Amino acid sequence: MFFKNKEFNQVSEAAVLKVLGEVNDPDLHRDIVSLGFVKNLKINSGKISFDVELTTPACPVKDQLKAQCLEKVKAIPGVTEVDVKMTANVRSTATQGNRVIIPGVRNVIAVASGKGGVGKSTVTLNLAVALSETGARVGLLDADIYGPSIPLMIGTKEKPITEAGRIEPVVKNGIKVMSMGFLVPENQPVIWRGPMIHGALTQFLTQVNWGELDYLLIDMPPGTGDAQLSISQSAPLSGALIVTTPQEVSLLDARKGLRMFQNVKVPILGVVENMAGFVCGHCSEVTPIFRRGGGDKIAQEMGVSLLGSIPLDPRVAEGGDKGTPIVSAHPESEVSKLYKKLAGDVAAQLSVYQAQSVGQFKPLTLEWQ
Ligand SMILES: Nc1ncnc2c1ncn2[C@@H]1O[C@H](COP(=O)(O)OP(=O)(O)O)[C@@H](O)[C@H]1O
Ligand SMILES: [Mg+2]
Repeated sequence: MFFKNKEFNQVSEAAVLKVLGEVNDPDLHRDIVSLGFVKNLKINSGKISFDVELTTPACPVKDQLKAQCLEKVKAIPGVTEVDVKMTANVRSTATQGNRVIIPGVRNVIAVASGKGGVGKSTVTLNLAVALSETGARVGLLDADIYGPSIPLMIGTKEKPITEAGRIEPVVKNGIKVMSMGFLVPENQPVIWRGPMIHGALTQFLTQVNWGELDYLLIDMPPGTGDAQLSISQSAPLSGALIVTTPQEVSLLDARKGLRMFQNVKVPILGVVENMAGFVCGHCSEVTPIFRRGGGDKIAQEMGVSLLGSIPLDPRVAEGGDKGTPIVSAHPESEVSKLYKKLAGDVAAQLSVYQAQSVGQFKPLTLEWQ
């Protein structure tokens, strides 16, 4: 009798792995056991504990996966207590061709737009803050040599320290930041030509002490000229995000930007539509300023995803001017929620791309034209 009871109480590892094998990662279309996500499984009679190591702390379905794990393991006969810890280990995207390698930096994301003034810098910074808030290690390189706006947007004029040819990035809100704006006096135009710009950007990539980063975001100069092409060819880009406003003129430029990355074989993570309507501060009604559905149209046409549609909100502009990005200044706002969702989607899209590019899963769905 005693033996029978004891046997019943001892839950087997196989039983736990069997039910966890029924939990699927919806982005990678595989179960978390065969993906190798289940770590440190410990069984102490009815007490079960394990970690689920995801490919990004920004995983949009983290809570959902945790709940499923808890529910399934709790249902095993004999289980009295379950402790699940959600962890993350961001994978590195392999560098292709002659691109510079930045040791310690796992993923480099270019945020680009066909033209200026669409909110590219605003999106880059708020995305950086949202990613960082999930626990990811984030850097931001302001590569807009002619119009560096990140220093103003983070509210610092601190000069980076240079030591023995290495540059220490400025750290703000836990994000490592480098910008030409830190180096040139304000109100003074940068009058460099192509090769000098290329040199400066290469230096920013290779001589800045970025340390260990999960995501390095590059605020690209607007357009598709020399500087843009030079970065998209030489930086070790894991993917590019295209920012556009919904109206036709902006979309035309966005299309060009998209094609530029496709030509140099940089995967497009998706399109972000910014300034998509105005939210009334009094009645919360959304008024479209430009035509509706532009971002959706371009995404469908180019076979990429529309990852977000962010409305105009005066607090976004205010945050940009005051150095307090909306995601940290008004975390409860609708726009901040959209940015957090965007962060999760961008990170998930990267994980999917990495999984596909190492040939582990189904072939790339991103197509080059
Ligand atoms: N969703 C938004 N709501 C309100 N203002 C915005 C929004 N996105 C950007 N802005 C403002 O528009 C201006 C241009 O944005 P910016 O990020 O500098 O554009 P870009 O980098 O594409 O030139 C800034 O003053 C910024 O604060
Ligand atoms: Mg800008």
